[in-house]
Amino acid sequence: MVNLLEVSTGLLAAAGLVKRADNSSSTSHHIEVPNVGNAALLEWGFNEAQKIFNNSQASNCTKCQEGINLGKYIHLAAPDVTPDLLVKLCWHYNWQDDCDSWQGRDITKGNNGKHIANVFTLMDAFGLDGQALCNWHATDTCDPVQVPEPDLSSWWPEKPKNPPKIESSYNETFNVLHISDFHLDLRYEEGLESNCDDYMCCNSESHNKRAIAAGLNHTVQPAQKLGSYHCDAPESMVEDSLKTVGAMADARDFEFSIFTGDMVAHDLQDWLSLSHTYQSEEEVYYLMKKYLKDIPVYPTFGNHDSYPYAQLAQNSSGFAGDFSWNAELSAKMWKDFGWINETTEAQAEHTYGSFAVTTKRGLRVISIDSNFWYGANYYNFWNISEPDLSGTFKWLVGELLECERQGQKAWIVAHVPSQEMAAVPWTTEVFRQVIRRFSPHVIAANFFGHTHADQFNVFYEENNKWTEESAISVGWIIQSVTPVDSFNPAWRYYEVDTKTFEIMNSKNYYSPLNQTYDYDINKSHNETIGNFSYPVFEPQTPKQSLDWIWEYSARDAYDPNNTWPDTAPLNATFWHRAAKLIVENPSYRQLYYDHYYRKSPYTPQGCTGKCLQQTFCSFVGGSQGERTECLKLKELPTL
Ligand SMILES: *[C@@H]1O[C@H](CO)[C@@H](O)[C@H](O)[C@H]1NC(C)=O
Ligand SMILES: *[C@@H]1O[C@H](CO)[C@@H](O)[C@H](O)[C@H]1NC(C)=O
Ligand SMILES: *[C@@H]1O[C@H](CO)[C@@H](O)[C@H](O)[C@H]1NC(C)=O
Ligand SMILES: *[C@@H]1O[C@H](CO)[C@@H](O)[C@H](O)[C@H]1NC(C)=O
Ligand SMILES: *[C@@H]1O[C@H](CO)[C@@H](O)[C@H](O)[C@H]1NC(C)=O
Ligand SMILES: *[C@@H]1O[C@H](CO)[C@@H](O)[C@H](O)[C@H]1NC(C)=O
Ligand SMILES: *[C@@H]1O[C@H](CO)[C@@H](O)[C@H](O)[C@H]1NC(C)=O
Ligand SMILES: *[C@@H]1O[C@H](CO)[C@@H](O)[C@H](O)[C@H]1NC(C)=O
Ligand SMILES: *[C@@H]1O[C@H](CO)[C@@H](O)[C@H](O)[C@H]1NC(C)=O
Ligand SMILES: *[C@@H]1O[C@H](CO)[C@@H](O)[C@H](O)[C@H]1NC(C)=O
Ligand SMILES: *[C@@H]1O[C@H](CO)[C@@H](O)[C@H](O)[C@H]1NC(C)=O
Ligand SMILES: *[C@@H]1O[C@H](CO)[C@@H](O)[C@H](O)[C@H]1NC(C)=O
Repeated sequence: MVNLLEVSTGLLAAAGLVKRADNSSSTSHHIEVPNVGNAALLEWGFNEAQKIFNNSQASNCTKCQEGINLGKYIHLAAPDVTPDLLVKLCWHYNWQDDCDSWQGRDITKGNNGKHIANVFTLMDAFGLDGQALCNWHATDTCDPVQVPEPDLSSWWPEKPKNPPKIESSYNETFNVLHISDFHLDLRYEEGLESNCDDYMCCNSESHNKRAIAAGLNHTVQPAQKLGSYHCDAPESMVEDSLKTVGAMADARDFEFSIFTGDMVAHDLQDWLSLSHTYQSEEEVYYLMKKYLKDIPVYPTFGNHDSYPYAQLAQNSSGFAGDFSWNAELSAKMWKDFGWINETTEAQAEHTYGSFAVTTKRGLRVISIDSNFWYGANYYNFWNISEPDLSGTFKWLVGELLECERQGQKAWIVAHVPSQEMAAVPWTTEVFRQVIRRFSPHVIAANFFGHTHADQFNVFYEENNKWTEESAISVGWIIQSVTPVDSFNPAWRYYEVDTKTFEIMNSKNYYSPLNQTYDYDINKSHNETIGNFSYPVFEPQTPKQSLDWIWEYSARDAYDPNNTWPDTAPLNATFWHRAAKLIVENPSYRQLYYDHYYRKSPYTPQGCTGKCLQQTFCSFVGGSQGERTECLKLKELPTL
């Protein structure tokens, strides 16, 4: 076990020790920073920044880029000042409500300021990098960037025209568990406010300000013992779900499990800390081991499974050392639990926690850390036209090429789907091209989590050509255990062909959380105090544990007339047809949303218009960029 104190001291030391060279190609933007103490430098920077922002001749985009450039040169001169300057400017210009914890470099708070400033030093402020960061993280500044499509042809030989076809076993399958997004909230407490203004609810600082202002002296909706719709998972929920899965494992004989990330709660930055992140990860891994016993789990990191939130630096940035504790902690636990062996543990430590294993039946499971395509990771905003700053894509391609040579099938396991709107277009495009190059002959399926919703997406061979013939790969986006926001907890397992490793069916289970409430959330009348109207619910007798019940099978739900042969897998072609059915038929669209929310009482009804377009684009987008373009369409094409 790594000593926590050592880890944080190490981080602080790294912060002070890392000295960056000025690597910008042009020196015309060089800023001479006065050689004064930190306090004076902060005042100087504040004044300089105001000059930039006061310039009525400059566009907001230019101002933002100049701001980055200023932050860069100050950080190069004095590593502690830029985070403080950001906090000061944030308060001054009212950028957001919670400036300290957003930008603050205090190790006990968000600590993001240090990482933003690190990235400033690496960026080409006046080129694509600056434009992208401003567009993404500062509203009303720069236009979105158009990063040229990367040419990856040197990464691999041409895609084989007629790769050897692996015969399906037709009737032989084995079962694999897929579970995701626990978001264990160590601070959850029964009775606290679950109808709160600011995340997280069900925590000691959760309040309903309007209720308090009106003089209401109790919570509007008290947090429940086993979980609440607007809150992350209490320990009881995580434990109960894993206990049930463990019990079912005996009957269903799960050969292994994939876990698509997010162990840590959606807490505000104030409440996040290295030790909190550490403790949440340890506890979730431990509970998985406790209840799944000898079933190996192949995990991947979520955007919450890092500290500070979502940050992960590439080796080439020079800052990767701040994050190596995570891969080390995790890989060691995975090895101790018998999920991976020593060789894979060592490998994971060298690839930021990404790793690959071969299962006993010969499937290659490749787990890759998607924080290298998530927009909240500031380290995705430097040298953005370089397709593989971290080296993980080339590593992934190496794995897939080896599979291709061996005639081996692979699964890709990652947290953030590549068409997630909060992912960055430049790296998700790289990912999409990798999927295309190796599908369907190598990649049998891709698995994601992150959205908490039960979803899927189809990857197509060509841009914007969404036809059945062009469908080549599928992303299985799994529903979460956490109810945020406002889902029933759920998970699933797959029936997998023993030879092709294609998914033959997915079987979904959920728990109706409202049964465990001591009030009926759908029977209430309103009462008013002052000018605040609040619901008063009828009491009900709660169930004492979560009831995990059968929800649906993908094959039955989306091929109701059984037109898809029993021997055919639920591959991209199947899901293309499912997408068509859901888009064209309102009752199947509702069925899809019932699954999306797992029949929660908050399931929206009647998705049409804008909602329909969003649904359509979530199916056909293979990358963030493709989905964004789809959302701009005036008219939706026929699938
Ligand atoms: C910027 O403008 C504000 C408000 O107009 C003014 O108070 C401030 O002194 C100006 N600062 C600089 C450095 O120009
Ligand atoms: C520029 O930013 C200011 C706020 O800083 C905002 O009010 C204004 O709308 C922005 N201008 C444009 C063209 O987006
Ligand atoms: C699967 O089918 C093959 C060929 O039809 C047969 O030999 C085999 O026994 C079947 N296996 C099972 C488990 O039904
Ligand atoms: C709180 O509300 C209850 C019932 O609504 C009332 O009996 C009690 O006096 C209130 N307490 C305070 C301190 O206002
Ligand atoms: C990153 O750097 C570490 C430490 O030097 C090294 O062990 C590892 O192999 C590097 N990983 C990649 C993907 O370059
Ligand atoms: C460790 O696991 C990897 C990945 O599954 C495998 O290739 C390797 O042979 C294993 N090594 C040992 C010593 O078992
Ligand atoms: C930035 O990307 C270019 C290629 O686009 C590459 O040559 C250069 O080495 C990269 N810089 C760093 C520091 O990795
Ligand atoms: C999916 O399976 C069907 C039936 O075996 C097959 O015709 C189709 O080509 C497959 N699609 C893909 C993308 O592999
Ligand atoms: C149940 O109640 C919630 C709010 O308490 C409401 O949003 C939802 O629409 C209701 N569901 C049904 C099916 O009435
Ligand atoms: C209670 O008030 C909310 C708005 O505060 C309103 O949407 C809802 O319809 C009201 N419910 C009843 C039963 O009157
Ligand atoms: C299933 O078959 C029935 C009867 O032929 C038909 O009315 C219905 O539209 C079909 N459903 C789908 C989803 O194709
Ligand atoms: C829970 O919610 C579902 C969906 O709205 C509803 O059908 C069910 O009756 C509710 N159960 C309880 C016990 O409130």
